[in-house]
Amino acid sequence: MGEEIRRGTVTTRTWLVFAAAMIVASVAGIVIGLAIEWFPVQGSDVADDIDLFWDVLLIVSVPIFVLVTGVVLFSIWRWRMRPGEERLDGPPIHGNTCLEIIWTAIPTVIIAGLCAYATVLLLDIQEAPAKNTRVVQVTGEQFAWTFAMNEGGKKIQTTRIVLPLDQPVEFRVRSKDVLHSFWVPEWRLKVDAVPGITTKYSLTPTKRGEFQVVCAELCGLGHAFMRQFVRVGSDADFQAWVDDMTAPAAPAGGGAGAAKADGAKLFAAGNPQTGATACSACHTLSAAGSDAQTGPNLDKAVKGWDAARLRGAIADPAKDISPGFAANIMPPNYAQTLSPEELDALVEFVKTSVNR
Ligand code: CUA
Repeated sequence: MGEEIRRGTVTTRTWLVFAAAMIVASVAGIVIGLAIEWFPVQGSDVADDIDLFWDVLLIVSVPIFVLVTGVVLFSIWRWRMRPGEERLDGPPIHGNTCLEIIWTAIPTVIIAGLCAYATVLLLDIQEAPAKNTRVVQVTGEQFAWTFAMNEGGKKIQTTRIVLPLDQPVEFRVRSKDVLHSFWVPEWRLKVDAVPGITTKYSLTPTKRGEFQVVCAELCGLGHAFMRQFVRVGSDADFQAWVDDMTAPAAPAGGGAGAAKADGAKLFAAGNPQTGATACSACHTLSAAGSDAQTGPNLDKAVKGWDAARLRGAIADPAKDISPGFAANIMPPNYAQTLSPEELDALVEFVKTSVNR
């Protein structure tokens, strides 16, 4: 027992073993950390810089984590108080100025260095955008994203945007209601949508494909479902999409009615003038090519419904909630943002689509 009770004595050999263990654990941690694929594929021109920054953060953080954890574990092993040792603790220590200066100065230098790196990096990748940069207005609301852009003098409003590969884009992000955060993980950059102001970032998509647009700020019941898609394609893909989006609406119902409301178009894009959110942002409907999952899948949920019930569920959604879905996720204002004619057209479109 004699040796065991002499507290606080640690041999040089033990210290050396401890230091060696710290170094081995740090190196192992860094190697494992760098080997893990933390992120999805790189989809923009800034992704490489962001990923490098992540790696630097990891290399700096792992040894600090190992040191803190190691000292705690070592202290528990070597200096914990065993029964009968209560009086061996010695007088309380009231501070050690030298130590305190050291352990304040070192983290300060580390944090300041990383902040400087982050600032330089951000300024570098967010330089004033090039002249030919395409501007996309992004609007977040509970619980959908809407994109608007101007192509050749024509306005496009959509919930499923297509962008051309290797052409710079500036996203100007706003919110209609609460905080959201506009994020496409493959592109890496993320910015909050803040009510009352416009935030922005710019980048150049460098990878073709369909990528998820994610809301990264807890914004309410439907937050987890606030997901849509962006497609990055060739110039030709993009041009075909633009032509499609800006084509004049086909005359509805076979009639010659010039200004007849177009249910398919309302479903796909809503009404930008009145702020009616597109149904396609939240609902799956195979006839409209939408596969969003925030709200019920209309192909199944409203099959067999008559026009009156459909109209009621759009105008006053809280009264007719599908099983498994919560109230107050669907915008309650369609009776105001859509005219009666538009509501009729929308109901007709959905009804014929699901009962084909
Ligand atoms: Cu919008 Cu979370």
